[in-house]
Amino acid sequence: MPTVNRRLFLVTGLAGAAAGGALAVPGLAAAGAGTAALRYPFHLGVASGDPRPDRVVLWTRLAQAPLDLDGGMGTQNVPVEWQLATDEAFTDIVASGTETAIATEGHSVHAEPTGLTPGARYFYRFRTGAHVSSVGRTRTAPAEGSTPAKLKFAFASCAHFEEGWYHAFRHLAQGDPDVVLFLGDYMYENNSGHSDVVRGYLDLDEVDKLDEHRLRYAQHKLDPDLQRAHAAAPWLAVFDDHELENNWWGVNFDQQYRKQNAFQAFWENMPLPRSMKPVNSAIPLYRTITWGTLARFHMMDTRQYRWKQAPNNNNTNCTELRRTDRTLTGATQERWLLDSLTSRTSGWDFLGQQVFFAQRDGDGKGSTCDVSEDAWDGYPANRDRIVQGWIDRKVRNPVVLTGDVHRHWACDLRKNYNDHSAPLVGTELVTTSITSRGSTTPPAYPERNPHVHYVGHQRGFVRATVTPQQLTAEFMGVSSVLVRDPAKSTLSVVKRFHVEDGRPGLRPG
Ligand SMILES: [Fe+2]
Repeated sequence: MPTVNRRLFLVTGLAGAAAGGALAVPGLAAAGAGTAALRYPFHLGVASGDPRPDRVVLWTRLAQAPLDLDGGMGTQNVPVEWQLATDEAFTDIVASGTETAIATEGHSVHAEPTGLTPGARYFYRFRTGAHVSSVGRTRTAPAEGSTPAKLKFAFASCAHFEEGWYHAFRHLAQGDPDVVLFLGDYMYENNSGHSDVVRGYLDLDEVDKLDEHRLRYAQHKLDPDLQRAHAAAPWLAVFDDHELENNWWGVNFDQQYRKQNAFQAFWENMPLPRSMKPVNSAIPLYRTITWGTLARFHMMDTRQYRWKQAPNNNNTNCTELRRTDRTLTGATQERWLLDSLTSRTSGWDFLGQQVFFAQRDGDGKGSTCDVSEDAWDGYPANRDRIVQGWIDRKVRNPVVLTGDVHRHWACDLRKNYNDHSAPLVGTELVTTSITSRGSTTPPAYPERNPHVHYVGHQRGFVRATVTPQQLTAEFMGVSSVLVRDPAKSTLSVVKRFHVEDGRPGLRPG
């Protein structure tokens, strides 16, 4: 495969995404003795993630030749220095250290400075030998128990590389969010299958080997707009299905080597802490990130522990679907989530997860079982237990954040969707895709499901502004992902909703 690289650089126009070189940087001691021969290795950008009050993960991954299967790095392990400063010029460096980018971890770096100031803005960069990375912006979470007045975040999903240019990522970065939630399908294991793609995956076969996964991530990460989105704010990243295989499920997924490779590559390529490094074919993905008393993000895993999807048998047999012990989360994660949803007198609880949560019922009466079996509709007993759990715990403002479906949706949540006047118990905001194609057939559900307030068809993301009094969700759309010229892809708020503190229910605004 190495011979193909130069041609694809030219075809996809990605060369120089992070053009850099030998820079003299005062304050950065010479790191990386023995790496003098290394060519510029920071083509894949920088990222940060999982902010806590006293720490944040800083990420990069070395690749001299990013579109070689081994990134052009061979088997050598390379020391990489990192710096964290309060200013972009790095005159006030508050933390620094050295990590080793090792070959068996895809030469990824996951630096974890600690002892930082809560709720603070920082800048970071990396160096090896004479080479210095681009600079990323990040922040720590506010102190536990503190009362932030405002939080701005964005959430996104589904970024098929072939199906569009990443204008939405660029616009997302320009909005300067405090934190970004990525809800899955960062990459796709398969090529698009459409003939009119805007750019091509290097390897058109389904990826399953570790070096193939690494290469596919590298191809994504060369995109300058994706790099901007990573460098703009810390991310809370979870995967969905396409990081491994369409609609994969559960502990009994029979191709353990594929799980192992997909999880390892995901961890290597995301700003995740070392504590989340996968062991064999398991990765500890779910966790809570707290934003003072204002918000909690419960990042969930709806793939690893789920039962197999119920067969969609055209409504002839609902027995499997309606089993009361069916689970999407697994019992342990369900308990973790409900334990995490302790009652608080203020604030918002965001469930950052992958698949559609609210009921989308064919006739609006719950009399069919012809449902989207991969979504929560395919696991209704598990959904009921979680919703009843947050009702029992008097969770003040539960808001489910969702990706997967390549459309914007906004839904009120009910305990019983078939009673259209039942009390509202929460909110679901579903982001459309960054690029991945959506169905052109309008869904039939909204008119029969009055809890659905909005369905949008553009590509884009969702922007949320949170205060103690109100959540504002702006469904953002880009005018095109098929034109490459950034000037020709404009961003607009296609729909806006508000939710008031303590009063579930979407209000257009
Ligand atoms: Fe997707």
